[in-house]
Amino acid sequence: MTSTIEAVATLIGDAKRIVVFTGAGISAESGIPTFRDPLTGIWARHDPEKLETASAFRADAALVWGWYLWRRAQVARAEPNAAHLAIVQLAKTREVTVVTQNIDDLHERAGSTDVIHLHGSLAQPKCFACHRIPAEQPFENPIASEGLRIEPPRCPRCKGKLRPGVVWFGEDLPAAAWKRAILATKGCDVLLSIGTSGVVFPAAEIPIIAQQSGAYVVHINPAPVAHQSSRVFCLIGRAAEQVPALVSLIGSTHLLPH
Ligand code: APR
Repeated sequence: MTSTIEAVATLIGDAKRIVVFTGAGISAESGIPTFRDPLTGIWARHDPEKLETASAFRADAALVWGWYLWRRAQVARAEPNAAHLAIVQLAKTREVTVVTQNIDDLHERAGSTDVIHLHGSLAQPKCFACHRIPAEQPFENPIASEGLRIEPPRCPRCKGKLRPGVVWFGEDLPAAAWKRAILATKGCDVLLSIGTSGVVFPAAEIPIIAQQSGAYVVHINPAPVAHQSSRVFCLIGRAAEQVPALVSLIGSTHLLPH
């Protein structure tokens, strides 16, 4: 009897193009909280409407900017985990496109290149007024404590307030990133969906589009987030455990194409 992970390793072993679609769950084991996990998720303690919307920024820019500086400090303290590193390993022998909902840079720091950020990035603020991205990083030293209100720096061009370069609720995804993600998703043989609850659209459409385009879809999550079928698999477990196990299984069962 072939186990699910062995069946998935065989699928990937035969695959030429893989999309790795990630959510907050892949960064959880690096110490960065997810959003909707009942006890540990950020939204258990904060109301996203008060922090992740343009109207929240208009109402209290210092609260929102301070919150994002705190989140940057969390990311600065975090290290990529074994799941991020296993994805880099997989990309050494196959065409792997990383499409992430995460605004941290752990994929890049693990060694993934050309990562597609559907929800933007903490690394690059932009002007709330003119939308320009300042050349220099305007960040003060990362702050350790949550809840500090810090006035955002000003845009060097128009003196408008700088805002985090992330996609807030009610805002469109970056068009170029979305287009590249769809192109890769429609052309892949296997899509690994790692650490996402799949409740925030349009990003959550990615695994659906992959399946509709004839790809196999593999969910890696401690929670059963999908129904298994002949083309949909669930590896139940933590990303830092399941992804390295999967990649090492591929290595042992398939001569990895060079
Ligand atoms: N390994 C794998 N998955 C995990 C782990 C882990 N160690 N720990 C938790 N998870 C799973 C949870 O079971 C959950 O399904 O990660 C998922 C996290 O879901 P969310 O917190 O909803 O995060 P995400 O799916 O990335 O949210 C999407 O919502 O708030 C917005 O912009 C934000 O990009 C985010 C989007």
